[in-house]
Amino acid sequence: MTTRDLNGKNILITGASRGIGHTLAIELADTGAELILVSRGREALEELKAEIEGRGGKATALCADFSDPGAVFSLAEEIKALVPCLDVLINNAGQALSAPIEETGPGDWDRIMTINARSPYFLTQQLLPLMEASEIKTVVNIASVVATQGYPLQSAYTMSKHALIGFSKSMARELQERGYRVHVISPGGVNTQMVSGVRPDIDTDELIQTEEIAAWVLFLLQNCRNGMVDHIQIRRESKLPW
Ligand SMILES: NC(=O)c1ccc[n+]([C@@H]2O[C@H](COP(=O)([O-])OP(=O)(O)OC[C@H]3O[C@@H](n4cnc5c(N)ncnc54)[C@H](OP(=O)(O)O)[C@@H]3O)[C@@H](O)[C@H]2O)c1
Repeated sequence: MTTRDLNGKNILITGASRGIGHTLAIELADTGAELILVSRGREALEELKAEIEGRGGKATALCADFSDPGAVFSLAEEIKALVPCLDVLINNAGQALSAPIEETGPGDWDRIMTINARSPYFLTQQLLPLMEASEIKTVVNIASVVATQGYPLQSAYTMSKHALIGFSKSMARELQERGYRVHVISPGGVNTQMVSGVRPDIDTDELIQTEEIAAWVLFLLQNCRNGMVDHIQIRRESKLPW
């Protein structure tokens, strides 16, 4: 068999209310996976849950604000009360910040680091006991092209994604012997609210579409050949290769 069956698997997606996480939720629900959808916005999550159930899928919506350093700990307790085993954790929630270094204050820096680096670290840590018994225990972290390159006017965001990739690399090695798979996807500009907020000048037709990112995540989760992919880097076609 070369394709892993996700039917009935419990999959948690953070940042599911819109953008990449939203598309991913719909595509994963269509595989028969049972989803736990997380973000701040209750209304958007309930709409998504209704859409998934309308397609015959299963989903639960949970709210958490990852800018609150304690939120992931209470979220993890809610998840432990909800499911006996978690198969896949997708750390996707994130926020960008466009500002010169001199104009990045401690409040903004802390918020970006807390949402993009601290929260995935401690959410993963808290959920590992719940994943231990899964046959397919997999963590997918959504990083960015800024996780491996310097980007002017995005220093705090760039730092936070470098931190996420550092965590992913160490986690992948630390948990390998226990059967975990850890994948990172690092996209360039994707057609979501995040980009329209900071780069309204970019033609949306030229951006990577959320369905493309969802397809890569599905590939990683369904792949059960002998070869293993650690990191997928996806650039806009117009950007320089390498
Ligand atoms: N778009 C791009 O070009 C691009 C490129 C590379 C990497 N990425 C990464 O891809 C991931 C998804 O981004 P996207 O483009 O889909 O952005 P998006 O459309 O802005 O969606 C971000 C998601 O994260 C959630 N979120 C934001 N702040 C949160 C908080 N404090 N607590 C909990 N959830 C929060 C949002 O939900 P609520 O607002 O309801 O909380 C939303 O569901 C991010 O990690 C981003 O860094 C994006």
